[in-house]
Amino acid sequence: MRIVVLTGAGISAESGVPTFRGKEGLWKKYDPRELATPEAFRRDPKTVWEWYNWRREIIAKAEPSEAHRLLAELERRRDLWVITQNVDGLHQRAGSERVIELHGNIWKVRCISCGARYYDRTVPLREIPPRCRECGGLLRPDVVWFGETLPKDALERAYQLSSEADIFLVIGTSAQVYPAAELPLVAKGRGARLIEINPEETPITPYADLSIRKGASEGLRKVIEEI
Ligand code: APR
Repeated sequence: MRIVVLTGAGISAESGVPTFRGKEGLWKKYDPRELATPEAFRRDPKTVWEWYNWRREIIAKAEPSEAHRLLAELERRRDLWVITQNVDGLHQRAGSERVIELHGNIWKVRCISCGARYYDRTVPLREIPPRCRECGGLLRPDVVWFGETLPKDALERAYQLSSEADIFLVIGTSAQVYPAAELPLVAKGRGARLIEINPEETPITPYADLSIRKGASEGLRKVIEEI
């Protein structure tokens, strides 16, 4: 019985990490086109890095939520995979090992000159924008920005897992961003039981066999009892 879980910012909201589109969402304060695009970075890498430095500081102080921990525990006794849109690394910090990061990881950096990719967990950053430890070139966050393609291997693996799922859980995503938002429909189309956990309705809700209007931790506690 393969369980596949797609998570979004909502699962980290309970860790104190702001979501993007919620009431207190990040996109309320910042215009994504000003920060999360290659053009914005080319135009003003310093401002983009100031935003990421601020998010890294919030995430460094955050602890995995009960929901992150419940998924890590469930992975130890069930055939379970997590596909996350989040870049905060909280699933791994909770102990999950089978995690596919569709949008990259905020703790990874990539050099736009020599292509070096590595983790840099410095909080706060020593210099903004940070420089490559290999060549001194300009670093960028190794995350997927609007208009960029997702990491090929992660995306292929995510589609494969979704098509093999017996139970597909969607937790804490507004299902507005593709291709991630298509994965629940891929699973449903291949006969999976589709369960959604979100305090609000989303475009996925009409397709769900069960849609729980609860937060991630409370909703997951209920679902785990019956899967
Ligand atoms: N538990 C579960 N879900 C919650 C909670 C909670 N405690 N609090 C809020 N939510 C839900 C909101 O109702 C919303 O549907 O989490 C969802 C957050 O949606 P978004 O902020 O749009 O985040 P997400 O869906 O992950 O965004 C997808 O968009 O900005 C890009 O790359 C970024 O990965 C991100 C992608």
